Amino acid sequence: MKILGIETSCDETAAAVVEDGVRILSNQIASQVGIHARYGGIVPEVASRQHVLSIIPVVRQAMTEAEANWNDLEAIAVTNGPGLAGSLLVGVNVAKAIALAQKLPIIGVNHLEGHIYANWLTGADISFPVVCLIVSGGHSDLVLMRGHGEYVTVGRTRDDAAGEAFDKAARVLGLGYPGGPAIEQAATAGADSLGLPRSWLKGSYDFSFSGLKTALIHQVKAGEISSLADAAASFQQAVVDVLVEKTIMVAREYQARHILLAGGVASNGQLRQQMMKHSPVSVLVPELILCTDNAAMIAACGYYRFQAGKIDDLALDVVAGLRLA
Ligand code: KG4
Ligand code: ZN
Repeated sequence: MKILGIETSCDETAAAVVEDGVRILSNQIASQVGIHARYGGIVPEVASRQHVLSIIPVVRQAMTEAEANWNDLEAIAVTNGPGLAGSLLVGVNVAKAIALAQKLPIIGVNHLEGHIYANWLTGADISFPVVCLIVSGGHSDLVLMRGHGEYVTVGRTRDDAAGEAFDKAARVLGLGYPGGPAIEQAATAGADSLGLPRSWLKGSYDFSFSGLKTALIHQVKAGEISSLADAAASFQQAVVDVLVEKTIMVAREYQARHILLAGGVASNGQLRQQMMKHSPVSVLVPELILCTDNAAMIAACGYYRFQAGKIDDLALDVVAGLRLA
């Protein structure tokens, strides 16, 4: 059963064809990262316009690469939130147009749920319950999943998301945008020597990264940073320590069978290694290209929603603040 996935929630225009929720037949991504880099972050209006230009060619390429015809498809899955409203609208309206013209069912997918389902594209045999750490530019959530489509958020960030913290720290250090990969790269030659604080928020599984960011800014302003590599390594280690420790605490408390990593920050090597080293259960991580925004994860999630009868209609709308519930 083949599903076309479409993703335009942020700054990647993506389309993919996935078979039975697990086999990727195509995975096309047109990144706008170079366009936004000159502004030091995503400009929503620019993102929407770029999606309009890219979406049709990207969908065509995904269909061609998968050697699929419209009548090979069983459904269209599309991200309808959370994200930038103007960006989401482009994907949702294209998905509706195709659904209407080709008489196909349409399935709205939560972007975060999509990130989690990237793990079903790893080929691993996953049994529930699992704990998911979703760490992206907009979210740092710890989610307990007892079955397909069943989510309980046990922790979330109280201020900056993990990816946002990486982006802001990189900006402070003059490392450019996007910050995560830049910090990871700079950190390879450094050591955790700045003594940056970890915010544990004892008794809660929530996260907080703004104090860490402020501590880094103070050291930069005071001229205390002698090595950019050490600053990057110290910042990265402070974020990773808290993410790993809290995720493992949740896994133990709920007797999870696996830990699933999801979202752009899950491509961080130090996070992956440290989680695998300390976890009592297996840690699943999607390959790098499936950690950041893509449409294969949306098609995979769409498959499980379709199986559960969770199908939408042409009244499907975008919800910029859509929650995972
Ligand atoms: O999931 P994603 O592609 O888009 C959102 O839905 O937000 O995540 C993007 C975020 C950015 O903040 C980026 O800096 C961060 O993920 N990121 C990383 C790495 N690669 C991307 N953070 C840390 N280490 C990385 N290697
Ligand atoms: Zn994302």
